[in-house]
Amino acid sequence: MRYLEDVVLKKWSAAVLAGALALGALAGCGGDDAGSGGGDDKLVMGFAQVGAESGWRTANTKSIQDSAAKAGIELKFFDAQGKQENQIKAIRNFITQRVDVIAFSPVVESGWGPVLKEAKDANIPVILTDRAVDTPDTTLYKTFIGSDFVLEGKKAGEWLVKEYEGKPDTVNIVELQGTPGAAPANDRKEGFGDVIKADPKFKVIASQTGQFTRTDGKEVMEAFLKAHPDIDVLYAHNDDMGLGAIEAIEAAGKKPGTDIKIITVDAVKDGMTALSQGKINFIVECSPLLGPQLMDLAKKVHAGETIETRVLTEETTFNQEQATAALPTRQY
Ligand code: AHR
Repeated sequence: MRYLEDVVLKKWSAAVLAGALALGALAGCGGDDAGSGGGDDKLVMGFAQVGAESGWRTANTKSIQDSAAKAGIELKFFDAQGKQENQIKAIRNFITQRVDVIAFSPVVESGWGPVLKEAKDANIPVILTDRAVDTPDTTLYKTFIGSDFVLEGKKAGEWLVKEYEGKPDTVNIVELQGTPGAAPANDRKEGFGDVIKADPKFKVIASQTGQFTRTDGKEVMEAFLKAHPDIDVLYAHNDDMGLGAIEAIEAAGKKPGTDIKIITVDAVKDGMTALSQGKINFIVECSPLLGPQLMDLAKKVHAGETIETRVLTEETTFNQEQATAALPTRQY
């Protein structure tokens, strides 16, 4: 009898143990903490990047990938190749995979409501990186980390106003805009326009997108130069477009930085080199090194900590002297 009781007890214990193990495994695979790392506790982040349109973007991607590795975060990285529909698909995929945190840098500002709502309904926190969205419901994302693009445009305008202080002649400006609908394109245009409108001598005689790329910057500048023989200033929303435009200006037999003054945004190494050579006159910095802060915020959000809803990047501006001094230690 005693033997029979022992056998029954052992069988019952084994069944309880097996049940407990099965439950544990289930919790590990399907719950909010699961990620898709196959059972280990690594935080899993899905990141949908804009693409690889500029030197800035390349530095930003590297910062995110390096920082994730350093922070012990499993990164599922997706390159949307400049297309919003690709980013939306990637976010939906991240939701299906039940990653722990979704982060993305929106190609354009509008059209994000439905997919952000899907992430919220799935209980997956979203962090906006680099660029904002214009959805009125700010509960659809936890925080937005990045620059103040309007301020960047203002800094560009302020430099111009100072440069032409006391000179009454008309200043003919051409503008190379970023990707249509993108926050940095909208805001840099707005900030610059707000400052220069105070003086009617500043005239934007042509403004067109150069898609944030060197190739398009060059092509559009060629067209500007053909249509307008009297350009005084080029304002390019990023270094890459400015660098493409420099090629067009030189090919047209003009001296960039002298015959046509050039203001750009970003301050990547190539832009800073052109500034130190006098081919660009002023650069407003926009830092791509968002990775460390992003990983930090992701960990906090995942741990249920309250975080600030807006995390602003610290940035400066460069003239020729400052660029020359900064170049040897420039990281990107
Ligand atoms: O969103 C940041 C902008 O995107 C950078 O200024 C530009 O170079 C990039 O492509």
